[in-house]
Amino acid sequence: MDAIKVGLLGFGTVGGGTYTVLARNQEEISRRAGRGIAITRIAVRNPARAATRKAELDGALGAAPGWDVRIGEDLRELVDDPSLDIVVETIGGTTVARDLVLRAIGNGKHVVTANKALLAVHGTEIFQAASERGVMVAFEAAVAGGIPIIKALREGLSANRINWIAGIINGTTNYILSEMRDRGVDFASALADAQRLGYAEADPTFDIDGVDAAHKVALMSALAFGVPVQFERAHVEGIRHLEAVDIRYAEELGYRIKLLGLTRRTPAGIELRVHPTLVPAARLLANVEGAMNAVAVSADAVGMTVYYGKGAGAEPTASAVVADLVDVTRLHTADPEQRVPHLAFQADRLSDTPI
Ligand code: HSE
Repeated sequence: MDAIKVGLLGFGTVGGGTYTVLARNQEEISRRAGRGIAITRIAVRNPARAATRKAELDGALGAAPGWDVRIGEDLRELVDDPSLDIVVETIGGTTVARDLVLRAIGNGKHVVTANKALLAVHGTEIFQAASERGVMVAFEAAVAGGIPIIKALREGLSANRINWIAGIINGTTNYILSEMRDRGVDFASALADAQRLGYAEADPTFDIDGVDAAHKVALMSALAFGVPVQFERAHVEGIRHLEAVDIRYAEELGYRIKLLGLTRRTPAGIELRVHPTLVPAARLLANVEGAMNAVAVSADAVGMTVYYGKGAGAEPTASAVVADLVDVTRLHTADPEQRVPHLAFQADRLSDTPI
């Protein structure tokens, strides 16, 4: 069987990482997917820079991966290309990305995205469009980078009634808090380091004001509780106002301050919150340092499970994007009528409805 054909929108940190991981591990990936997966088109605003970057990546890999890759600047033309089966969206943002993703879905293509802001804001519309068109929108990379938390919620825990989820799901703020506590670095310098290391969003206020974590909580909540993605209902508070003295006092009292994302069932419906939290120093989540992420899930049959790993960076994020490509490739041959959407919810089940 021919390789399934993939088009990349964007070729930055996530796009480049996806190209690298897919090329380097082609053999294992094809075996697991039951079919080859080939990137055949890349669309970016600056094709010359992407061509240079691709040549660098091929050099680092030792050889080009053997795909016939066309690099161009017309993003719309890529999503309209009838030869492509899957579009990977890595451009970020919520306006152009929304148009392109909806257009790709309309064209009958599966979509893989790491764009949590896009799905948190327009997820209901996007997932409904995908469901109607019989295509998949996969987003493992949108929450906690390389940690397979979406798979855990969709599949591993599918037998359970989930009670609550609590996690450190923003690497930038966890890095800042760790640096302030361990090395006495001030907030601004720690943020500058997180940006230099490639953890922060293009607009880092999304990180430090808790918005990025709220995007991710809204997605996990929708998966866990079968509600639509309801980012706008989240209580969101970031770490901008925290000072070294707050961290020191917390420490003296036996706590660490962590920016937690939380969602749980309450008698009044589903709660979604992001805020700095005092976590007892002996707890697992208190000991998650630097840009690492960790998510704890409480569920009725299994009890509590915890997922830990790299939540940001090129290859950890690409690991999740490529896992979605494998997943979509496997399902691509299945009868569309029998596909369960990656995010299935009851449209009328709002978060203030007791469930
Ligand atoms: N800015 C995000 C973070 C990147 O710091 O976690 C991964 O979603």
